[in-house]
Amino acid sequence: MKYFIVTYGCQMNVHESEKIAGILENMGYSEAEKREQADIIVFNTCAIREGAEDRVFGNVGNLKKMKKRNKDLIIAVCGCMTQKEQTAQKLLSTFPFVDIVIGTFNLPQLGAYIEAVKKGRQLDVWQEGDIDETLPYKRTSGENAWVNIMQGCNNFCTYCIVPYVRGREKSRSMENILNEIKQIIGEKKYKKITLLGQNVNSYGNDLTDGSNFAGLLREICKLEGDFKVSFMTSHPKDLTDEVIEVVASEDKIEKYIHLPAQSGNDRVLKLMNRKYTREKYLSIIEKIRAKIPDCRITSDFIVGFPTETEEEFEDTYSLVKQVRFDSIFAFMYSPREGTVASKMEDQIPDEIKHSRVNKLLALEKKIQKEDGKR
Ligand code: 5AD
Ligand code: SF4
Repeated sequence: MKYFIVTYGCQMNVHESEKIAGILENMGYSEAEKREQADIIVFNTCAIREGAEDRVFGNVGNLKKMKKRNKDLIIAVCGCMTQKEQTAQKLLSTFPFVDIVIGTFNLPQLGAYIEAVKKGRQLDVWQEGDIDETLPYKRTSGENAWVNIMQGCNNFCTYCIVPYVRGREKSRSMENILNEIKQIIGEKKYKKITLLGQNVNSYGNDLTDGSNFAGLLREICKLEGDFKVSFMTSHPKDLTDEVIEVVASEDKIEKYIHLPAQSGNDRVLKLMNRKYTREKYLSIIEKIRAKIPDCRITSDFIVGFPTETEEEFEDTYSLVKQVRFDSIFAFMYSPREGTVASKMEDQIPDEIKHSRVNKLLALEKKIQKEDGKR
């Protein structure tokens, strides 16, 4: 029996697919090289922008013929997209040949759902559940081991679907995280450990034992072994001086911070509910560069947020020009149903979003060329 997993979206999803692989291998499945050879195909989806969802609809639709040829083929769709009840229903009604549609909280039960489907049921499940710490991972990222330290997000940036599909922030206990890392170090296969969370700097805020992110980093660095640690993603409003100090002082921590700015204009930042200003963002960059001169800094930007004027976009442009990031991701704003920004008036036409994103990417290319960075 063979499985094939198709992953969309961020590193958290890449890591979650390692969990799916772990569950399936525990059930006796092994990995198929091609989807045509698989007995079960799992789509681990992303909902962050419309384009990601369109690709899933297209690719799931393409399986209709395969399912016709092989009635026993099991098709499962999970991840952020299916956590939205309406999208899950749409998937099921558009593609009746899909067997399992599960949301982000029900992944631990994937094995049980597969068994149920073999008995002939189509399943759709998306109610909130707990994190399961006991599931095995099948690590697939070479020398890098991903470690999830928390899930969810409490920030509700007005453009973002994540808080709706991943729930509120839930930190894992420091003990569980350290045990997982000790095990990874013990396997001697991994040179790098990347800590993952929507907002790693909020680590511990929901715990009652006083744990925080800087403390977690310090504890990890005390572990013996030849490894480097990095982390993502940081929110500028929560990146503390203490964390910058730890990154500066610990040899085991990679000198790299991904710090999404999203915009360089204060009015847009306010509408995005980011809770910092351009000036505050620049002061954090300055602080990082003063304390960690060789630190690589990368960022994310959204252009064409509702009501964004050309002048306001120019503020984003000038921020990128001023900071000279090691690299940036620039996205065209994509309205996500249910978020505050999707209901705002004055949505920006696609042509303008295209032209702004192209301008920003051209600047990024120029800076990379001049600074000789990747
Ligand atoms: N439209 C465009 N980009 C978005 N991002 C998050 N939500 C949206 C959206 N609705 C971007 C942000 C974030 C990155 C992971 O995706 O820049 O940092
Ligand atoms: Fe989305 Fe903002 Fe949370 Fe990041 S911090 S996941 S952009 S709501």
